[in-house]
Amino acid sequence: MNQTTTEPGSTRTLRFHVLRHDPRDAASVPRTETFELEEAAGMTLFIALGEIRERLDPSLAFDFVCRAGICGSCGMVINGRPGLACRTLTRDLPTDITLAPLPAFELIADLSVDTGKWMRGMSERLETWIHEVSPDVDLGRIEAPMDPDLADRIYELDRCIECGCCVAACGTARMRKDFVGAVGLNKIARFALDPRDPRKDEDYYELVGNDEGVFGCMTLLGCHDVCPKNLPLQTQIAFLRRRMARTGVG
Ligand code: SF4
Ligand code: F3S
Ligand code: FES
Repeated sequence: MNQTTTEPGSTRTLRFHVLRHDPRDAASVPRTETFELEEAAGMTLFIALGEIRERLDPSLAFDFVCRAGICGSCGMVINGRPGLACRTLTRDLPTDITLAPLPAFELIADLSVDTGKWMRGMSERLETWIHEVSPDVDLGRIEAPMDPDLADRIYELDRCIECGCCVAACGTARMRKDFVGAVGLNKIARFALDPRDPRKDEDYYELVGNDEGVFGCMTLLGCHDVCPKNLPLQTQIAFLRRRMARTGVG
């Protein structure tokens, strides 16, 4: 029986079916390995994986830093759905749990992927920083006050932790290596809102008014469904698409 919830006072035995592979080892063959653990109260996938590594297999590779849903490094595919291991409670999962690395990113080993390299490449292509009007930075300058509602909207989009779950859940990103993903489109929507950035719609059009950007998005919305920070990705993509379409015909 594949129980999905824990009865009060009962302990479940969890079976973790983990996709293992080390591309740096020529002899390594992709395979699934199963580990059994007794579930503990408040157990997260991160705790379970730590226990597996400590007690059953020290070679199991996976990433974590903050354990609090902040650093974005523990993304993996959990029973077919991208999510954060440190924010997933085992009690919300059935007793059989399959774990696989996030697709679309370079595999380091087992559940560890190089999201950092992908994110850096995307950020450099989209120039995801405030562009200065003048190259001479005046550190004594006082910024003009920002409308609080606008500041809130920008802050909301800045909550992205670059975990890569939206990219892993996106059919377009899986087919097109150069697609900037919902994470990239969200960043452009964020800078397009920011009055401190002097770039105009034409500049953003150059960056994302194409098939690698907003016109490559097929509105599959897997990104919106899986984002662990609940970012309004659907709204941002629609906003950017309207804005870029207007710029393209203008
Ligand atoms: Fe992760 Fe959401 Fe940012 Fe995508 S938009 S990288 S799912 S936090
Ligand atoms: Fe992909 Fe999200 Fe668009 S899943 S196709 S970026 S709506
Ligand atoms: Fe940082 Fe999970 S360990 S988000």
